[in-house]
Amino acid sequence: MTISQDGIILGAVLVGAGDGSYRGLWRDPDVPSEASTDIDWYAEQARQAEAAQFHFVFIVDSQFIDETFPPHHLNRLEPLTLLSAVAMRTERIGLAATISSTYAEPWDIARRLASLDVLSGGRAAWNIVTSMDPGTAGNFGRPAHLDGPTRYRRAAEAVRVVRRLWDSYEDDAFPRDRDTGEFLDPTRLHAVHHHGEFFDVAGPLNIQRSRQGQPVLIQAGTSEQGRQLSAEVAEIVFSFATTIAQARELADDVRERARHVGRDLSTLRFVPALSVSIGDSDEEVLALIRARRAATDDISAAARRALGNVAVDEAQLDAPVADLLRSHADVLTSTTARDFAVAAARGLTLRQWLNMQQAHWAHFCGAPHDIADEIQAWVESGAVDGFNLFVHEPQQYRRFCGEVVPILRARGLVRDRRANETLRESLGLPFPENIHTVARREGVTS
Ligand SMILES: Cc1cc2nc3c(=O)[nH]c(=O)nc-3n(C[C@H](O)[C@H](O)[C@H](O)COP(=O)(O)O)c2cc1C
Repeated sequence: MTISQDGIILGAVLVGAGDGSYRGLWRDPDVPSEASTDIDWYAEQARQAEAAQFHFVFIVDSQFIDETFPPHHLNRLEPLTLLSAVAMRTERIGLAATISSTYAEPWDIARRLASLDVLSGGRAAWNIVTSMDPGTAGNFGRPAHLDGPTRYRRAAEAVRVVRRLWDSYEDDAFPRDRDTGEFLDPTRLHAVHHHGEFFDVAGPLNIQRSRQGQPVLIQAGTSEQGRQLSAEVAEIVFSFATTIAQARELADDVRERARHVGRDLSTLRFVPALSVSIGDSDEEVLALIRARRAATDDISAAARRALGNVAVDEAQLDAPVADLLRSHADVLTSTTARDFAVAAARGLTLRQWLNMQQAHWAHFCGAPHDIADEIQAWVESGAVDGFNLFVHEPQQYRRFCGEVVPILRARGLVRDRRANETLRESLGLPFPENIHTVARREGVTS
């Protein structure tokens, strides 16, 4: 399979002081100890990615902590506030933010994302999550966290409403004619009048569309319902795939579902997570992996994260994974359930599995050209369109941007961004025409 003319998609997850995959990162002398709240740190990471022709930077988020959470989770900036500042320090890199459809209202989601999209010149993207931590309910006055299928139903409705709100103004709604005094053409402004299972939203929204029409939509859940939501609305599908076969299974399934709902398949991009260990010798690579492993979650914190962030006792650590797979079915993410199924088939206890566990996503090791080869092989397989980089050590990030990407560029696999390009244009995604403009042209009432 040949790689599309838009080249391999590259995203970078920006993390400051260390998340669950590398809890001890904040002790790296290269990382400012206040990195998670330091805008200069994020801007510098984003500028490196931009110079290396990445398509976007991405800020993950959640809205629940306790004292056991990893350093980055304990004290971090809210994604849209942070990305608005990053937008001012960069020129063309995409800005992707997680916002929970379970705990935010569509009108607010639409307005905040549209604001980022307008002020950045069409560079915003929304990672539509449904929130994993049951404890989040306690921060929003909810009696309980909604179950998975209900959260996904709410997410699907939220996206429908948000997209309608984004089309409140047609692109020629503001004549701003000083001579006639006509600021707004009211025939180009549209309310929403939505009444659904979860939301009642009158509309319209009080902000225009951006240069890219609407922010790009990203979805990362891979349960049954997550896949269906991706098929219906996602333009970028994030995932945690450890092998090309896993990535292909997801892409085939989502494409099949998308075909079923009448989607144009050329509007889907598959971008799984990737970690790297770049070294000039095997010894260097091994030393890096060992250092990282020594600085990751201790075993009870890792167990707790796997089991939906509830306290885990010694008896549970020594329980067969097969039992936990049954007893915790409703709190496991689809990725953890997938990994647990493998451990259960091997008869492992939770402690044994955690001690053996490697990253639950792709991890490429070796010299820069080895990493470039693997990236090329995955993309040429047709299973993925690019990677979302989870590389948080500054030295490794610099090597990826400064050594791996230039190899891919020299091979013609990463193309240079054009000045003034929107995120959609950089990804080869179509401009979403305003639904009301289309309806008028076609002579139907919207
Ligand atoms: C690359 C990637 C990034 C994610 N970022 C977030 C995030 O920022 N916040 C969040 O609550 N969940 C995040 N998730 C989790 C998923 O969106 C989803 O909620 C989780 O996988 C559980 O859903 P599932 O069982 O349908 O897979 C992320 C997942 C992936 C693969």
